[in-house]
Amino acid sequence: MRVIVVVGARPNFIKVAPLVPALTAHGIAADIVHTGQHYDAAMSDVFFEDLELPEPRWFLGVGSGTHATQTAAAMVKLEELLAVERPDALLVVGDVNSTLAGALAAVKLHIPVVHLEAGLRSRDFSMPEEVNRLVTDQLSALLLTPVREADENLVREGVDPARIRFVGNVMAESLLRALPRVEARDACARYGLARGAYVLATVHRPENTDHPERLAEIVAALRESPLPVLFPVHPRTRPRLAEHGLLASAHGVVLTDPVGYLDMLSLERDAAAIVTDSGGVQEEACMLHTPCVTVRRSTERRITIEVGANRLVGAWRDKISAALADALASSRDWPTPEFWDDRVSVRVAEALVSGVEPMPGV
Ligand code: UD1
Ligand code: UDP
Repeated sequence: MRVIVVVGARPNFIKVAPLVPALTAHGIAADIVHTGQHYDAAMSDVFFEDLELPEPRWFLGVGSGTHATQTAAAMVKLEELLAVERPDALLVVGDVNSTLAGALAAVKLHIPVVHLEAGLRSRDFSMPEEVNRLVTDQLSALLLTPVREADENLVREGVDPARIRFVGNVMAESLLRALPRVEARDACARYGLARGAYVLATVHRPENTDHPERLAEIVAALRESPLPVLFPVHPRTRPRLAEHGLLASAHGVVLTDPVGYLDMLSLERDAAAIVTDSGGVQEEACMLHTPCVTVRRSTERRITIEVGANRLVGAWRDKISAALADALASSRDWPTPEFWDDRVSVRVAEALVSGVEPMPGV
């Protein structure tokens, strides 16, 4: 069996890291195609180094653009590649534009699509990711879910349960596999911060970056944090902070470029609390037992709230500050969600080996 695995954006690299060795061990040939959605060294190359990922066999150089421009460019290039290579399946991960482009290109070539991290729903259609998730899931022959709630979401949307397999959260497996290499890392010291005595923040969702008033509320809350804040800034966010005069590293907020994966895990582990709008960071905070505050209107990672690791607040200064105070005072003792373990990639490989049924009519 031969599978092509699509990656394009930062969280994709992290999600596929455990997969390639597990697929190979199960006799599945796996090649990576990188669409080039993310291209800065700090948003792409660093993850291949940190995760010891094999070089992509193909690099499509799609780059940035509007949603249609970026998705269409990735579709055109993926279609050309898939028409020649004709793998037995195309594996896509997560919910970025490269995920959707891969699913659309493959399904019309009658190549079965396998979606890892299927079934998550925020029920907020203003999020591009929600659109990408919903469409990708409808087009997928095999849907591999990270939580049981995702299976229920898919069945409710009419997906045949025979296509769904609960495999667990591959982001958790990447983290567990990387942790031994993070053990001795003290990334916070590089920023003059002490372990357990700072807050880590990330913000990149359009619902925050593209609404100046929300971005200003988040920054105001970070500035009144009782502990210093370290804020590695996503390339989408930096120009928005600059436009609105929010870039100055004042009042105890240290802004820095995006950091590598191993440094990020070290920073997340050693933070007193995390403030974020990232999907992956919510999950990692849950795994690392660092209390999290999610600055969004919704989350598709509801399980992190259910276990007591996370609290959802909108982008309101007073609500964020109150939630941060609660997070800093809270216990770090909560259960790890089911199948957020180091066997996810094996379950993925087993699901593939047991067969990918073609879509109806194919
Ligand atoms: C994308 C995903 C989002 C994911 C995030 C992970 C979509 C619709 N969104 O958002 O779900 O959470 O990646 O980080 O796919 N840029 C650079 N250098 C880069 C990459 C991007 O400067 O290497 C800048 C460009 O100005 C670009 C902007 O960031 O226009 C946004 O990049 P894009 O890939 O379109 O979306 P993200 O916000 O990164
Ligand atoms: N991450 C990183 N460096 C950073 C910020 C995030 O390595 O400066 C990692 C983080 O640990 C997680 C992933 O990137 O594994 C999350 O990606 P992101 O927040 O960009 O996207 P999302 O998960 O929201 O789609």
